[in-house]
Parts: sequence; structure tokens; C-alpha cells
Amino acid sequence: MGGQRLHGSVRVTGAKNSVLKLMAAALLAQGTTTLTEVPDILDVEIMAELLRRLGCEVEHDSAGRLVRITVPEVLAHRADYDLVRRMRASICVLGPLLARCGAADVALPGGDNIGSRGLDMHIAGLRKLGAEVTNEHGYLIATSDQRLTGGSIWLDFPSVGATETLVMAAVTANGVTVIDNVAREPEIVDICQMLIDMGALIDGVGTSTLTIEGVSHLEPVVHRTVSDRIVAGTWAVAAAMTLGDITVLNSNPEHLQVALDKLLSAGAQISAVEDGFRVVMAGRPLAVDVVTLPYPGFPTDLQPQFIALNSIASGAALVTENLFESRFRFVQELVRLGADVRTDGHHALVRGRLQLSGAPVEATDIRAGAGLALAGLVATGCTTIYGVSHIDRGYAEFIPVLNELGAQVERIEAESLFT
Ligand code: EPU
Repeated sequence: MGGQRLHGSVRVTGAKNSVLKLMAAALLAQGTTTLTEVPDILDVEIMAELLRRLGCEVEHDSAGRLVRITVPEVLAHRADYDLVRRMRASICVLGPLLARCGAADVALPGGDNIGSRGLDMHIAGLRKLGAEVTNEHGYLIATSDQRLTGGSIWLDFPSVGATETLVMAAVTANGVTVIDNVAREPEIVDICQMLIDMGALIDGVGTSTLTIEGVSHLEPVVHRTVSDRIVAGTWAVAAAMTLGDITVLNSNPEHLQVALDKLLSAGAQISAVEDGFRVVMAGRPLAVDVVTLPYPGFPTDLQPQFIALNSIASGAALVTENLFESRFRFVQELVRLGADVRTDGHHALVRGRLQLSGAPVEATDIRAGAGLALAGLVATGCTTIYGVSHIDRGYAEFIPVLNELGAQVERIEAESLFT
């Protein structure tokens, strides 16, 4: 039910887009690695199952926000399609399996609802490290008769996934690897820090060039997952849209600089508090243009939430999506709530409306689901979001947190919608 002003505080846990890779990185060291601040989301369960099938013991204590992964000396090296199709991020076992086993068979994830999502940079980079990579029967088969060898790699684009695959492959390669034009997201810094604690030698963390001197083996560690900046940003937009007052805790506002700056331009008041930040909104937001770019640019994972904000703002905004070609698909759903949005290629023109009106809509991916939920919070009457399992993949306790902040949201099983 729309129309409530959200207020209160919310504590964010570790980032989905970091923890899945940290779980994969654990494969690089025999023994027990413990990750803390693990979010209680579906994707962590899928990754745990994948690691178990590779031979690991995985204990997930959701109440304690812990995952303990015990990695055996000998690992299986095949990631099956039934898991990879459920979670594209499964591809992140490719680098560590190749490094540990000299072989990795990982099902090709294919495209998904946000775009085609290539793997060419992962493959070209692994070849530079001496691996043979082929595509057979729907699987990417990577092999290396001997230890991988250091090499020079230039990425065409600062891809998050390719950077992670190549760093994980290079940390135990023979010799020095230099990777240029790497991604610089806080999640990349997080995995590099964990690998360094495990014994890896990585220079240039947080810059566009990583220099990695291979070591013979790594040790298991205890590592705290970096906080989820996208979840934090979603709550910040919720405050701005509902004329609310939300304090986001366990969050580093420096990781959200561009997005928070946009909220300031939209009229929000933002202040730093101990361990987080507070967003207060007094009046109708002003429309803000957004251009998605690799970090430190504006994150694509907050683009749908900002389209939702612009849909009720005063004025018009141009939103440009540079990362995923199909991320505007959700706009059709937003239009069902009365939003005035026109898309043309990778641009969306959003003309703010005074009021949206509740309607049934379908979430097609995690962030689309978040954007639609934010729109539902300010629409008149009732909005029903189908496909809410997409939201479960990235937001822990989404509905209870919304209700604690004063929203009126209920989760309904699909069958009972028709009784
Ligand atoms: N790309 C290629 N070739 C490659 C690799 C990437 O063409 O070899 C293209 C992709 O098709 C895409 C662009 O490069 O158009 C960016 O891809 P990138 O590799 O940077 O993204 P990713 O690793 O597939 C991660 C997050 C995404 C997030 C992006 C960008 C995970 C599991 N996923 O994806 O998160 O949007 O980085 O920041 O970490 C989400 O959480 O909702 C989500 C989609």
C-alpha cells in the first residue's frame, strides 16, 4: 500500500556481489575459510551448493551472518548447468578452479534479463596466462597442463567479472601478471584484500592496473565482507522518494559518492553518522540526470531505483545506461504504475508525474524489483509485484525491513493471489 513516509534506521550487511566471489576465492586455499557479514540471500545458498558439489563442506549460519567453507586437497572441477543457470555469478569459480586443479568445466551462463553478458575478456585473459579454453557442449572447458604463467593483459573494458576471474587465476601463477584497465569497484578491492591476507602479492589495489606476483600456495583466512553499497543506495532512494528520514548503518558513504551526490541535487539532506549516513527529504524530489559507468561512476545497479525516483520528481531527466542493454525492460512495468518514461536505445527520458497509481507489475531482475517496490511505496493504493523471488536474490529481509521503516507491505504466496 503506497503513501507511507519511511523513517528509522536500517543496518546493511555484506555485499552480494562481493560475498559470492569471496566464497569462490576460498577454493584457492586448502582448509577452512570463514566469511563474516554474509547476507542471508538466495544466491549465497546457490553458491554454497555449488561449492559442496566441488567437494567442499559449507556451513551457512544465517543468524550469525557467517559462512564457513572447508576446502579439501583435491577438488572436483565441474560447475553444472542446473546451478549456473540459476545464478550467473557461478562463473566466478572458473579462475580459482583452473588455478587449483589445472582444469575447469563451467557451464556457459548464457544471457539473462538484463542483457547478453559476454565472457570474451575472461577467456582472452586466461589464454594470456597459458590456459587452453574451448567451448564444448555448452561448457567452457579451461585446461592448463602445468601451472599458469604470468603475463600482460589489457581489458577492453573494466569488467568486474573478468577482473575477478583473472586475479584469482593469476595469484598462484608462475611469475608476474600485469592486468591493465581493471575494474575498481569496492567489491574488487575487497577480494584483493582477502587474497592478500591469504598470502597473495597484489600491487595497485583500487587503481586501474594490478600487478600480481604469483605465489606457490595460499592459506585460509577469516574475512569480513564489504558492506553492500547497492542495498544502502536503495534505502537512500527510498528515503528521498517517500519524503522520509532513514539512517543507513554499517555502510561507507564513500562507496556511494556519485549516487549520494545525485540525491543531494534532487533535494535530499545527507549527513554522515557514526558507521553510516542519514538521508532526510523535506519536499518533492527534483529530477536528476544519470549516466551509468564503471566505478567510481554511477552504478548500473542503482539505475532502476533512480528511474523510479525521477518518475515522481519535479521536471524531466535523461537516464543513460552504458552497461546492460536490456536494463530498461522494467520501464514497461513502471509505465503500468502511470510513470511517463520513453526509451530510445540506451537512453530513457523520464518526465516526473505528481502521482503514480498502484497496479500489478512483474519484477524481471533484482534491481528492477527494487525499483518497482520503491515506486509502489509512493503510488496511490495497492501495487502487487510478481516475481518477488528476484528481490530475494539480492536483498536480505527486504519486506520486514520495509515494514520496520513504516511501509505497509505483505508477502503473498502466488496461489493465494487467486483465491
Ligand atoms: N562484458 C563483455 N565481455 C566480458 C565481460 C563483460 O562483453 O568478458 C560486458 C558485459 O556483457 C556487460 C559489461 O561488460 O555489458 C559489464 O560486465 P561486468 O563484467 O562488469 O559485470 P558482471 O561481472 O557480469 C557484476 C555484477 C552486476 C553489476 C556489474 C557492473 C556480480 C555477480 N554481478 O556483473 O550486478 O551490474 O558487475 O557493476 O557481481 C546485480 O547485482 O543486479 C548485478 C547485475
